[in-house]
Amino acid sequence: MTKKRVLSGMQTTGKLHLGNLLGALTNWVSMQDHLDCYYFAADWHALSSNYEDTEQLQENMLDLGINWLSAGLDPEKSTLFVQSYIPEHAMMHLLFSMITPIPWLERVPSYKEKMAQVEKDLRSYGFLGYPVLQAADIVLYQANFVPVGIDQLPHLELTREIVRRFHDIYKTKVFVEPEGKISEVPKLPGIDGRKMSKSYNNAIYLSDTKENIINKIKNVVTDPARVKKTDPGDPNKCVAFNFHKVFSSAEENEITAVECKKAARGCVACKEQLASNLLNYLEPLLEKRHFWMGRPSNVFDILKEGTRKARLVAKDTLERAETSMNINFRKVLGDR
Ligand code: TRP
Repeated sequence: MTKKRVLSGMQTTGKLHLGNLLGALTNWVSMQDHLDCYYFAADWHALSSNYEDTEQLQENMLDLGINWLSAGLDPEKSTLFVQSYIPEHAMMHLLFSMITPIPWLERVPSYKEKMAQVEKDLRSYGFLGYPVLQAADIVLYQANFVPVGIDQLPHLELTREIVRRFHDIYKTKVFVEPEGKISEVPKLPGIDGRKMSKSYNNAIYLSDTKENIINKIKNVVTDPARVKKTDPGDPNKCVAFNFHKVFSSAEENEITAVECKKAARGCVACKEQLASNLLNYLEPLLEKRHFWMGRPSNVFDILKEGTRKARLVAKDTLERAETSMNINFRKVLGDR
């Protein structure tokens, strides 16, 4: 039986935090054994909102590769590649742009939301077409499943609509209609209790040192009603307890909850235990990060080989799309 194909991408917009690790990477890693996985660095997507400030893009690519390998993505099992090195993504995007009605794009929730949130001028052609590029990314690999965060589901719906429209217009079935796959992940807030995000300055990064991490855990918000150590606390109102639920054992958490409610243990001790559990959890990843950080050229070699493999698939799909659109001239002009 052939394995179902999975594809997903991450923008190269900056360092990864614990939320990215638990929300996406861990899930990617868990799919490697039973699915045919293609994962890529979406550097063109990163450009769509960072077009003015591209200084970090080189560094971000390497850091992303290092984090992937450190979190357990295995190039023997998954194809790891770079979007901007596969021109077929841009070509497929162009072809899709011909058939995608502008109102479909203006309706995508992330379009207006991000435009309102970000203090940059995002009234660009590329930003409006962001989900068209994403559709191109997905269909080129005939992906059955696309593991993404819930905010990305409208992009998947749009991808399916573009695929149907293409099939409808050109009367040949070229693409697989992909399905979004939301991962069942433990919810991890930022250290202030809001969503963990670079822009809120409340994230714990995979690139943080152990000392950094310990300090950030010290600052995790606890039940605001528990002012003194002798005040009883409510674990359900405590951000640190949310972290415990992810990184500490169920037995530990039972005791923690009881002791918190009885004021038998203070928040400082409670967070020390949390920091120690979190560091234990991260230890293997941090060790591997250290290993790969010393071998950037090996990281790039892995991406290079993955990109070579992925491109073969992308080329094949693009050629079939061109054939069905009657714009395939290979018979008379030869290969490009
Ligand atoms: N838009 C995705 C995000 O911001 C990244 C992405 C680009 C992607 N192309 C993709 C995800 C294709 C899945 C499939 O998270």
